[in-house]
Amino acid sequence: MKIPRHIAIIMDGNGRWAKKRALPRHLGHVAGSKAIKDIVIHCNELGVEILTLFALSTENWARPKLEVKGLIALIRNYLAKMDDYIKFGVRVRFLGDLTVFSEEMREEMALVERKFSKNSGMIFAIAINYGGRSEIVNATKNIGLQLKSGQVELDEIDEQFFQNNLYTKGFPDVDLLIRTGSEFRISNFLLWQIAYAELVFIDDVLWPDFKTKHIDMAIEQFSLRNRTYGKVN
Ligand code: FPP
Repeated sequence: MKIPRHIAIIMDGNGRWAKKRALPRHLGHVAGSKAIKDIVIHCNELGVEILTLFALSTENWARPKLEVKGLIALIRNYLAKMDDYIKFGVRVRFLGDLTVFSEEMREEMALVERKFSKNSGMIFAIAINYGGRSEIVNATKNIGLQLKSGQVELDEIDEQFFQNNLYTKGFPDVDLLIRTGSEFRISNFLLWQIAYAELVFIDDVLWPDFKTKHIDMAIEQFSLRNRTYGKVN
């Protein structure tokens, strides 16, 4: 089976998972957070180079305050308990506009990245306060500053240069984008990076129910696709 270098996942359906059980939405997110570890371990074992998960979008702030607060607290709690991931050899990166978070939380994220930095396995990238359009605007502003200061000439700006100004600097493009929860949208996730990604929408599986067998199914579908990158073959 052909293994994608970079897999990205939109973990959708936590709210509906909770609703089906007459539980508060927050417990759906708790269940969702518990589904992550097996997927990280499995992808690392398969030889995936990058796994990027959409944990919090720039648009999620429009949800009820309590839900957003709960999600952030859940993510922080998750970070505090990530030490046992170290033995799996993965590295950790946070993607997104992290400036909105408290200094304390930013330090917690930086600490996690540092703790895992000696590993050489898969990069487990957590997209948090991430939005694809805002990432592109942010990169454009960075490039504008570099132009203004003379660090770069207009002619030097090509796709590779632009890519190096995104949060995903150094990452290969997404090969396989998976979305759970029977929604068939991109939701502003990794807009630049999914230009040639294969899209797999997992129907009828809400994120808390997502298991390693679903990753295998998605990779199988990916393997069967003929990736032409706009060419004829
Ligand atoms: C979408 O479900 C999911 C989210 C907005 C957040 C995803 C977060 C987690 C899986 C847990 C926290 C993450 C980490 C890294 C610890 P939804 O609420 O939109 O579901 P719905 O469409 O059924 O309402």
